[in-house]
Amino acid sequence: MKTTRLLSRDQLARFYDGLGAGLDTQAFYEAAAMRDLVAHLEMRTSRAIVEFGCGTGRLAAELLANYVPPGATYLGLDVSRTMVELTKRRLSRWGGRVEVRQTDGAPHVEAADNTFDRFICTYVLDLLSDEEIRRVLDEAHRILRPGGLLGLGSLTNGPTPTSGLVTTIWRRLHQVSPWLVGGCRPITLSSFMPNSGWTVEYTNIVVRFGVPSDIVVARNVATPRST
Ligand SMILES: C[S@@+](CC[C@H](N)C(=O)[O-])C[C@H]1O[C@@H](n2cnc3c(N)ncnc32)[C@H](O)[C@@H]1O
Repeated sequence: MKTTRLLSRDQLARFYDGLGAGLDTQAFYEAAAMRDLVAHLEMRTSRAIVEFGCGTGRLAAELLANYVPPGATYLGLDVSRTMVELTKRRLSRWGGRVEVRQTDGAPHVEAADNTFDRFICTYVLDLLSDEEIRRVLDEAHRILRPGGLLGLGSLTNGPTPTSGLVTTIWRRLHQVSPWLVGGCRPITLSSFMPNSGWTVEYTNIVVRFGVPSDIVVARNVATPRST
């Protein structure tokens, strides 16, 4: 069986520390997918948002400026010190409503059960092992309140001839060295969604400039654990 070589947590932190604000150049293919995701996340009723792998804080700034109610809070998590600094700077005008933490890259989130009502993770699960992806989703389920929404985006397999070719080339580059593509490989998000605990409410594949992005919005439907 072919094994997929992935970058370790330390290597990912180093890569994204080096990339810094250059990460925002990926907006050319991510922005349309992010708009589609946000349109299905019912942000107007959100009160407590957590983002796993916040990058430069681009999506968070957009949410805080245009989509979330005035009292809503935001917690951003990232393994890269540079990304944490960039997000803090970008979100400084929202003061105490915002917290940004550097993590060790573990799927665990330092937060009590049933704390948040939105868990957002875009273009991060495609860097992680299958096992880690499942653990992040378990953690999202633990810290989301019942009825809370999970919003995911990732690179995926292209559904059209052009995007299929882009995916094939991307996968080859990843096989040669994951460093060439920032550790990212195409994945199918719905294949990681367990049958219980979540209701998948929306899925889509958005293709921009031949690059396909998978979008999933799912609701936490399980009875909360008692704390
Ligand atoms: C491709 S960027 C995406 C950033 C942002 N979510 C976006 O859509 O623009 C991946 C981000 O995830 C962070 N990251 C990678 N592995 C991580 C982990 N295990 N835990 C937390 N953040 C991680 C990287 O440092 C980087 O900021």
